[in-house]
Amino acid sequence: MTEMVRLSNVSYSIESHVLINGVSLRVDKGEFVALAGENGAGKSTLLKLIMGLIKPSDGDILIEGTSTRRQKVSTLARSVGYLFQNPDRQLFGATIRQELTFGLDFLGVSKDDGERRVNETLELLNLNPDRAPTSLSRGERQRVALASLFVRRPTLLLLDEPTTGLDYRECSQMMNQVAALNRESGVTVLMITHDMEVALDFSERMMVLSEGKLIADGATRSVMRDETSLRRASLVPAQMVALAQRLGLAPGEADDAESLADWIADNARGGADDARHS
Ligand SMILES: Nc1ncnc2c1ncn2[C@@H]1O[C@H](COP(=O)(O)OP(=O)(O)OP(=O)(O)O)[C@@H](O)[C@H]1O
Ligand SMILES: [Mg+2]
Repeated sequence: MTEMVRLSNVSYSIESHVLINGVSLRVDKGEFVALAGENGAGKSTLLKLIMGLIKPSDGDILIEGTSTRRQKVSTLARSVGYLFQNPDRQLFGATIRQELTFGLDFLGVSKDDGERRVNETLELLNLNPDRAPTSLSRGERQRVALASLFVRRPTLLLLDEPTTGLDYRECSQMMNQVAALNRESGVTVLMITHDMEVALDFSERMMVLSEGKLIADGATRSVMRDETSLRRASLVPAQMVALAQRLGLAPGEADDAESLADWIADNARGGADDARHS
């Protein structure tokens, strides 16, 4: 596994307030990791540290082996795409096409290549290039913000609650596009989410942050069964995981709808047979 991000004992304080407290973690290239935690746990602060927007008070952060202390944010922004918690903070263009084209020449992308990337992305995310970002719904604005990251072809995507405020259809569209990008181009994804169903469906690994400390890090299905950590971070596990756990199944044994339904059908039949034989 090639390392993408490494935090070694990172702390971050503002005056005497400790926002991030001794966090160490590693994310490898191509991984899809969810980051969860209660409100105010420090999740957004952690992403801003990784993006280099703020520097650690203590410890070190390496992105592809280079410390964020030794890199300018503008250099990091070439390979790291950051989707803000509020998409309106990053939309400036008069039209969607302008929004996507903006800054590509600064990255050294030729005009032809830029046009090709913009057209591909417009199609992929089903966006009308002539509309003004300000005239769109929240879900559409979120898609434009995501598109403006996609055209830059980042190697690391940092997503801060990308599905908040989206309806079910918008949410699954958005997540499927991120998943496709992760699968097809191998972009590493680190995504903050409060939605445990989204975390279960899309991330193979989950980290839990609580009061600035990393309190859990492991396979999503196993972390979701860690009741103590989840409770500390005010999280409720995805329903499939909770049900599988109540039925006494091991993590991964049957925790998607289809295999759970099969398991229940088999065991209900077994139970009925047992009753008849007694
Ligand atoms: N610039 C700042 N100055 C002082 N305190 C701050 C600053 N930014 C954030 N904080 C505080 O740091 C803590 C962590 O904030 P952060 O935004 O990282 O949390 P979060 O986990 O992203 O929360 P949410 O789920 O609400 O988005 C909070 O208590 C917040 O009030
Ligand atoms: Mg936040």
